[in-house]
Amino acid sequence: MKARKIKDRIYWMGSVDWDRRLFDSLVPLPDGTSYNVYLIEGSEKTVLLDTVDPPMADELLSQLEGISKIDYVVSQHAEQDHSGTIPQVLEKYPDAKLISTPKAKGMLIDLLRIPEESFITVKDGETLSLGDKTLKFIHAPWVHWPETMVTYLEEDRILFSCDFFGSHIATTDLFVTDEGRVYEAAKRYFAEIMMPFRNVIQKNLEKLASYDIEMIAPSHGQIFPRAAFIMDAYRDWILGPPRNTVVLPYVSMHESTKQMVDCLVSALVERGVRVEQFNLEVTDIGKLAMALVDAATIVVGTPTILAGPHPYAAYAAFLANALRPTTKFLSIIGSYGWGGKTVDVLAGMIPNLKVEVIDPVLCKGVPSEKDFKALDDLAEAISEKHREHNFTK
Ligand code: FEO
Repeated sequence: MKARKIKDRIYWMGSVDWDRRLFDSLVPLPDGTSYNVYLIEGSEKTVLLDTVDPPMADELLSQLEGISKIDYVVSQHAEQDHSGTIPQVLEKYPDAKLISTPKAKGMLIDLLRIPEESFITVKDGETLSLGDKTLKFIHAPWVHWPETMVTYLEEDRILFSCDFFGSHIATTDLFVTDEGRVYEAAKRYFAEIMMPFRNVIQKNLEKLASYDIEMIAPSHGQIFPRAAFIMDAYRDWILGPPRNTVVLPYVSMHESTKQMVDCLVSALVERGVRVEQFNLEVTDIGKLAMALVDAATIVVGTPTILAGPHPYAAYAAFLANALRPTTKFLSIIGSYGWGGKTVDVLAGMIPNLKVEVIDPVLCKGVPSEKDFKALDDLAEAISEKHREHNFTK
């Protein structure tokens, strides 16, 4: 794709990656992604903001044909999907200086072996005049690495935010046209890489509140012509109360645990509690992460195998522990054959979750009437907890 004009002398460059289905060999990308690069031409200086993932380098270099001079390359984030083509860009423009935070400088040297003399490091709040346009560099750590910053173009009121406010969507629409679709993709993205750092992200949001931002241009997904849309969504995901929802990741080997899941789901729904159920054999792990953003309760369903939880359930517990959602309650249900330490093993895997554990329901073999009654009681206990804490939305 060729460069596309955003505003006067501000262009989108980069690549739309329609075919990518996995990020970091972990995160599913059902809708592909994009690596957005921005070219800003001031009356005196020209800047390139970030680059592309190395497999897409030729596309960026082709877009840069005809751009005779770049004075500065800005690296807002050292991860290679944005920084990986910096060496080739610096080779094409040997007089260009590379601008980054001091922390990013060290990381870019480590990851890409960029020579130290190429760098100019910027302090938080430092500005750079391009003539009739001015860039302000705002340090915004932990969105989602420690070295990250965002860049505010003062005259045009555009915030270039790199990963912050991004979404993994491959599309030819430069600007957001369908806020519902982007809301879901951005929430998934928040869950997968931002949620563990939400306290620092809240501080970054507070820092940005004093800026007059018309448009947000992230480095993945579409540009937000209405900045408030995505900033309000982030505030809600970070500060909003948990919802009246149970997230129920489960796995079942011989249908006993599945029968327990069905019984619990039905009992919760009867009590007005929403359930998001994920069969871990087939689920999209990104959807599970997204559901964890604002659910009040997690119930893990697992049979006992090799004296502990099924490995898929252990994976879900590991993921939840790493993502650190604000979930308040947790329980475990499942069937066992002759014994084991499923509850102890799972409980030991989630030290980061500040949850109250509601009594698990484990049954021997196929669930009996007594077990179904215990599941009904569990649904009642969860519903009561949600009501007590006013988690009713
Ligand atoms: Fe899009 Fe953290 O890289």
